[in-house]
Amino acid sequence: MEKVKVRLTVNGNSFCLEVGAKERLLDTLREQLRLTGVKEGCSIGECGACTVILNGEAVNSCLVLTGQLDQSEVVTVEGLAQDGRLEPLQQAFIDHHAVQCGFCTPGMLMSAKALLMKDPHPGREQIKTALEGNLCRCTGYQQIIEAIESLTGPERE
Ligand code: FES
Ligand code: FES
Repeated sequence: MEKVKVRLTVNGNSFCLEVGAKERLLDTLREQLRLTGVKEGCSIGECGACTVILNGEAVNSCLVLTGQLDQSEVVTVEGLAQDGRLEPLQQAFIDHHAVQCGFCTPGMLMSAKALLMKDPHPGREQIKTALEGNLCRCTGYQQIIEAIESLTGPERE
């Protein structure tokens, strides 16, 4: 099968990878780089379990071909904690009981992180919009939203 060479920065580390022309970013991350925090749910862009941050935007990695990502920057849930310390968003999810089975959690975290990178003080509606593409079958979403809100400070007028 035809292979494509791509240079990717993933969680701050540079990689030169050979990937199949139809290889999804989801598979590259899980199978080549062993970053299994990224989850596969629906495979068709509807559940958000596979969400990662690509060049600053939250994307469904099941819908993106790695061969088209030369010189791109990817952050996965494994890239959030630094020096063994959870990122505040991860701690907030724990503190607000925003995790049950945990399958959606990496995707939720990455969607929330992408939002907070762009706007550190989003209101509740912006948080809901940012999480629209992330499905959770366990929590009812309230705790997830509250976890994110706990980091955003007062809502703007
Ligand atoms: S696995 Fe990608 S959106 Fe569901
Ligand atoms: S915690 Fe189970 S799917 Fe969200």
